[in-house]
Amino acid sequence: MTNNKFVINWIEEMAELLEPSEIMWITGEQSQLDQLKEEAIKTGELILLNQELHPGCTLHRSAVNDVARVEDRTFICTEDKEDAGPNNNWIAPEEMYGIIKPIFKGAMRGRTMYIIPYSMGPVDSPYSKIGFEITDSIYVVLNMDIMTRVGRRVLERLGESEDFVKGVHSTAELDDKKRYIAHFPEDNTIWSVNSGYGGNVLLGKKCFALRIASHQGKNEGWMAEHMLILGIENPQGEVKYIAGAFPSACGKTNLAMLIPPEVYRKKGYKVWTVGDDIAWMHIGEDGRLYAINPEAGFFGVVPGTNEKSNPNALGTMEKDTIFTNVALNLDNGSVWWEGLDSNPPENGEDWKGDAWNGKTSKEKGAHPNSRFTSSARNCPSISPHWEDPQGVPISAILFGGRRAKTAPLVYESRDWQHGTFLGATMASETTAAIIGDVGVVRRDPMAMLPFCGYNMGDYFQHWLDMGGELGDKAPKIFHVNWFRLDENGDYMWPGFGDNMRVLEWILNRCENKVDAEEIAIGYIPKAEDINREGVEEEVSLSKVRELLKVNKEEWLEDVENIKEFFKPFGDRLPVEIKDELNKLEENLRN
Ligand code: GDP
Ligand code: PGA
Ligand code: MN
Ligand code: MN
Repeated sequence: MTNNKFVINWIEEMAELLEPSEIMWITGEQSQLDQLKEEAIKTGELILLNQELHPGCTLHRSAVNDVARVEDRTFICTEDKEDAGPNNNWIAPEEMYGIIKPIFKGAMRGRTMYIIPYSMGPVDSPYSKIGFEITDSIYVVLNMDIMTRVGRRVLERLGESEDFVKGVHSTAELDDKKRYIAHFPEDNTIWSVNSGYGGNVLLGKKCFALRIASHQGKNEGWMAEHMLILGIENPQGEVKYIAGAFPSACGKTNLAMLIPPEVYRKKGYKVWTVGDDIAWMHIGEDGRLYAINPEAGFFGVVPGTNEKSNPNALGTMEKDTIFTNVALNLDNGSVWWEGLDSNPPENGEDWKGDAWNGKTSKEKGAHPNSRFTSSARNCPSISPHWEDPQGVPISAILFGGRRAKTAPLVYESRDWQHGTFLGATMASETTAAIIGDVGVVRRDPMAMLPFCGYNMGDYFQHWLDMGGELGDKAPKIFHVNWFRLDENGDYMWPGFGDNMRVLEWILNRCENKVDAEEIAIGYIPKAEDINREGVEEEVSLSKVRELLKVNKEEWLEDVENIKEFFKPFGDRLPVEIKDELNKLEENLRN
């Protein structure tokens, strides 16, 4: 497949360690992928769904102890512990290899070793980067084929270069006590073992495109961020792009695929999807910030997806989709999940494969972190510019999380430095996307806490440096919260398509078309400037006022929590960020 001696040497070394009985290069040809799919169906690794209802679609069930990312088993292995920072689990590279090599030794005995050459980003983009994933899982091969660009064309682009990321994955024995997701950012290497769950094993995604790439971006002057990218087309046909960082399972995919409410559609507004999880951003020739989506598909949360909340996601998963950990309807070979409709199968199997009657059972049919893997090309709202090699120019950046209280519906930072502070102090309630407790508020800067491949103090500095370079061409930075609750524990804001109303205010701010009120935390909208025209679920003006309310007591509690969070960063925390924190506290006390 290749004459690249760096690739060949590395693969020989890995084959010697892993001792597979066969080696197969993934070429990107459909016939090869079809054959692998057939093999996985034979062994039960994939379940073929009703092909009339779901053409090309299959269901995969992961092991019951292997259903989400494992942050406590994820490591950043740098020579110096300080370079990984207090935000990461750290083990020195030599020591980690000492732990992990014996686990990998002979792990592919009797199995096939698949070699996947892949590109993060369109193969012809100057911003794309190349990786290899060695794996013993067909599920991984088929997912990587959807999520990235794989095969021969990638090797052609690489040529003789040594510039590629070396990833090795083995499901081994799926022993969760010997599960390691280990990153070596100083040698562009990723080793993942004893897991079969997407975020731990699709090495192009979180491991490369965020953890390794954030480290590369810091050194090379660009940014790898946990962000969706969308375009809003106004009635004049102009498109403005927004990037947004929300933690896992906090609404990126839904916002990226937003369908504007009818009043907007009638006027001629349209939303285009560019990416739903990761943005790589560079400063373009004109001095503006440009973003590419390094992925080629979506690995989206399934539960809660329905005709009303996200029809574009449903459209995307109509064909050629791999479902992971949803419920199966045995009567018609279809799939079901919580929140799809009120008609769960009576004769079904839950995500674990146990007999399940959705009408009577109190157990969930789908795992809360069940996922769909679909090609971006299948998305009805995919942007005509989603594969532009130079990316799309970003007008606004959003930060947001799940906050039952404290954070208002939307507010704007005073400038880039203050915006960086908003990102650095983001918080959100934990979700099912990570193994551990759900619903606990934790600080998650830029939604990158689990994904920043280096010391986050340095990462904040990198944000400040990028802002310095962008100057007055920098995107404006906002904070949003769709998840505020009322006293009964119900969401106060309808969310989903109606988030368009907030995006409209944001774009109006970018174009200086609307005023705002400056308060302690930044600029907040006047309630009457949030467009309530035709809102389906009655949102009164006083409710919007409630959604925008800032309670100083709650905010001062947050300030204390932020101080605690920043402590371990010591001198690596930029003074600008400390200044902003002092300013916030002062503003709140006045
Ligand atoms: P991602 O993991 O960040 O891409 O998040 P998703 O877009 O997949 O959404 C995760 C969960 O949050 C799903 O169950 C959605 O239904 C729910 N969600 C997304 N957007 C909203 C919103 O605007 N309001 C509310 N209440 N829930 C939302
Ligand atoms: P998400 O992606 O952000 O769509 O949840 C997976 C993850 O972050 O684990
Ligand atoms: Mn994510
Ligand atoms: Mn998502």
